[in-house]
Amino acid sequence: MTAEVRVTDRAEPQAGARPATAAITTTGLTKRFPGGQVAVDAVDLDVPRGSVYGFLGPNGSGKTTTIRMLLGLVGATAGTHELLGVQMPRGGLDVLPRVGALVEGPAFHPYLGGRDNLLRLDSGDRTAPGRESRQRVDLALERVGLSAAARKRYRKYSLGMRQRLGLAAALLRPRDLLVLDEPTNGLDPQGTREVRNLLREASTEGATVFVSSHLLSEIEQVCTHVGVMSHGRLVFQGSLPELRAAAGLRVRIETTRPEAASEVLRRLGTGKPELRPNGVVAELGTVPSDQVTAELVAHGVDVRQLVVERPDLEELFVGLTGEGFDVDE
Ligand SMILES: Nc1ncnc2c1ncn2[C@@H]1O[C@H](COP(=O)(O)OP(=O)(O)O)[C@@H](O)[C@H]1O
Ligand SMILES: [Mg+2]
Repeated sequence: MTAEVRVTDRAEPQAGARPATAAITTTGLTKRFPGGQVAVDAVDLDVPRGSVYGFLGPNGSGKTTTIRMLLGLVGATAGTHELLGVQMPRGGLDVLPRVGALVEGPAFHPYLGGRDNLLRLDSGDRTAPGRESRQRVDLALERVGLSAAARKRYRKYSLGMRQRLGLAAALLRPRDLLVLDEPTNGLDPQGTREVRNLLREASTEGATVFVSSHLLSEIEQVCTHVGVMSHGRLVFQGSLPELRAAAGLRVRIETTRPEAASEVLRRLGTGKPELRPNGVVAELGTVPSDQVTAELVAHGVDVRQLVVERPDLEELFVGLTGEGFDVDE
């Protein structure tokens, strides 16, 4: 029998050009601020095209600094990075029009309304057709729920409204990549839900979405991939199922003889057993759970209940970052 090899790629990449399967890659990306503090420490990001990538980490873990480097707003101390297959910051003029961004403190005019601010921004975009400007702006305002406040001056906007206007600016035109730094900051639960829907929509329309948050729960539902920052380092990167798998299975045993059960687990080679008031808990590792049951029974340990469970993502994050994510702002 012969195996048939099919080339399914429709377009051959041009000689010398790599097919860009990643929307963002960084290699050893590092930022050391004057004074010696390393805010971002040799970060290797790999953001697949088409993904909704949650860039997670507690406050101060280096998310904003990374994003500012990605967009070329601040220089890197070391390392390289590419956006949509284009080397940055060199290729910024070519690639940045394809990237919608929301970063801290966008330059909006305080005495202009939201709508006029967007019109101003839009007219500065030399790659956008000018005659559709009003239509584009009104659509963007509508998408972020600011139509009614379109004339209100920016300086009178609440934090949530400012955030929405920043998002509208990022969404003014269809983009191949959205880079959004904490877009849910300052928004109430309803606003947060709306942002999640916007991210989903943008993704459905074909954009890769890179979105940071210090609140796992706020973006977990929309992400396909996550990267977790802690103290400037990327401590986890992968798909959401990979993240779930990284949270190893645990066995929880209810018994009147927790000490004896611990001893059995130790001999089986599970993770370190932890005593609980009426039982014991341990990481299973590679030990099959039915072997645990059999050994407990063989050693005469009464088992009232044996549960195999996976820690939830929140617990995993505490383990990865050494800090809990805020439950709420
Ligand atoms: N301009 C700066 N000068 C000096 N230190 C900075 C500067 N910007 C950020 N940092 C420090 O770098 C670290 C990472 O900050 P940041 O990237 O804002 O984290 P995050 O966005 O995850 O909250 C923090 O310790 C912060 O104090
Ligand atoms: Mg930040």
